[in-house]
Amino acid sequence: MSLSDKINELTIEQKIILQTGKDILRTAKIAEIPQAMMVDGPHGLRLCENGKTTPQVAFPSLSTIANSWNREAVWKMGEAIARQCQKQTVALLLAPGVNIKRHVLCGRNFEYFSEDPFLAGELGAAYVMGVQSTGIGACVKHFAANNQESGRLATNSVIDEKALREIYLAPFERVIKKAKPWAVMCSYNAVNGEYSSQNKKLLTDILRKEWDYEGLTISDWWSVDDRIESIKAGLDLEMPRGETRKLLNAVKENKLAEAELDTCCRHILDFLEKADKITQTKIDPDGQKKVAAEVAAESVVLLKNDGILPFTDDHIVVVGSYADTCRIGGKGSSEVKPLQKDSVIKQLKSAGKSFEYYPGYIINSEKTNRRYESEAINNSKGKTVLFFMADPDLSEAESYDRENMSLPLCQLRLLNKLSLVAKNIVVVLQCGAPVDCAWSKMANAILLQGLAGEYGSEGLTKILYGELSPSGKLAETWPLTIGSQASDSDFAQKKRNVFYKESIYVGYRYFDSARIRIAFPFGFGLS
Ligand code: GLC
Repeated sequence: MSLSDKINELTIEQKIILQTGKDILRTAKIAEIPQAMMVDGPHGLRLCENGKTTPQVAFPSLSTIANSWNREAVWKMGEAIARQCQKQTVALLLAPGVNIKRHVLCGRNFEYFSEDPFLAGELGAAYVMGVQSTGIGACVKHFAANNQESGRLATNSVIDEKALREIYLAPFERVIKKAKPWAVMCSYNAVNGEYSSQNKKLLTDILRKEWDYEGLTISDWWSVDDRIESIKAGLDLEMPRGETRKLLNAVKENKLAEAELDTCCRHILDFLEKADKITQTKIDPDGQKKVAAEVAAESVVLLKNDGILPFTDDHIVVVGSYADTCRIGGKGSSEVKPLQKDSVIKQLKSAGKSFEYYPGYIINSEKTNRRYESEAINNSKGKTVLFFMADPDLSEAESYDRENMSLPLCQLRLLNKLSLVAKNIVVVLQCGAPVDCAWSKMANAILLQGLAGEYGSEGLTKILYGELSPSGKLAETWPLTIGSQASDSDFAQKKRNVFYKESIYVGYRYFDSARIRIAFPFGFGLS
């Protein structure tokens, strides 16, 4: 007898309690019905409760590992993060996000794979298969068309059917058909006039009837607008908590048929039956570190090299605070508390390399620190400089979009001054989304390390000294300027409707068709 057969033993009150969460991480607690925990990814388990976050190995951002173009690497990352879930008996990992990068300034693009539906779908499926190979469930999100953070709770993505199917739903379809994720999470926004949390076309007509999806549908946290309408549309579980009194009255007043509630509860019970099989297991710290370091190394993209790389064992000057405190991830529900600080300086020391290090600027500051700046410049004359640049930590985050692609002024100013005195400059970028590269002519070489997680410096050091050949390729186009994207016409405006006037012309589909000059093309990477 399966758990969902017990539905007939449940009272209407118990069914109503079952269709919503108990707290921010858990499903309801009812009699002998098992309870399950669900926690964010996608860059490691973000288990925070009572103000305390459990440290876990932080893996590269999805935008970074996408540059590996390697399904197996993504599979291994998903599997390793699922091991973190097993240790904490978390049944469902709330990842991966496979939303399409419609605009380069979307604040959450570091949590997504690509501008291309095929690549996003293939890597998303690999991630889900990696997670679910351990018996832990994955939850593909945010279904659908969550392509900006500005006003995300209330915007309405207005999309033509062709673009909706071929661009925005395509990654979800691929993940669902290839990997059968335990859960699908709806997005906050509306699609063509109806909130995703109560969008029958998305949740039932397409997801269930066309794609034969049999798993669980859950809301994004507090994304349900009208719970009765969402049950009728096919949203099974409202997270983290929802109303019950209103639902009970609706059933009593025949505004909601018990049979509709039963459909949701059956999906929830099927999920809980799988979740109940989770067994707590130990974690292999060395295995976690090995996978995190390997996948980060595979994701480094060589954007420029006039032959200065790989370094010989000559003395170099390392400049930039991010060399010693690497930027490893973005902000919001994906932020993992790492076990350690990642430092290229530490790697260079342990590799016995000959170098000197100067901070050059202060992290997360736009303002020049004159002492740091002059110290770096005075010690770089006639030398080969390895210069680290990064966006400020808060520039890539959930709930708001980026304002521009510019790197901090103090870093650009220092690079300009270094270019006047240094013999060579190799720039390393620690960012999860494209940045303005107007300065690229000042660099002899440029490496995109990305948001590489807490073990990114090992692979970077090997690449710098030729022990490893960089193999990353860009999974998204790097535009020359902000004003060059088709979606500029309607992105992050302060209004409800967002008109996807560009239709299917997203990313390279637009830049190629319109012959727009770009900084670096989709798929680009030297070795
Ligand atoms: C957030 C995010 C979603 C996350 C959920 C739980 O608002 O949109 O990606 O899984 O809430 O933290």
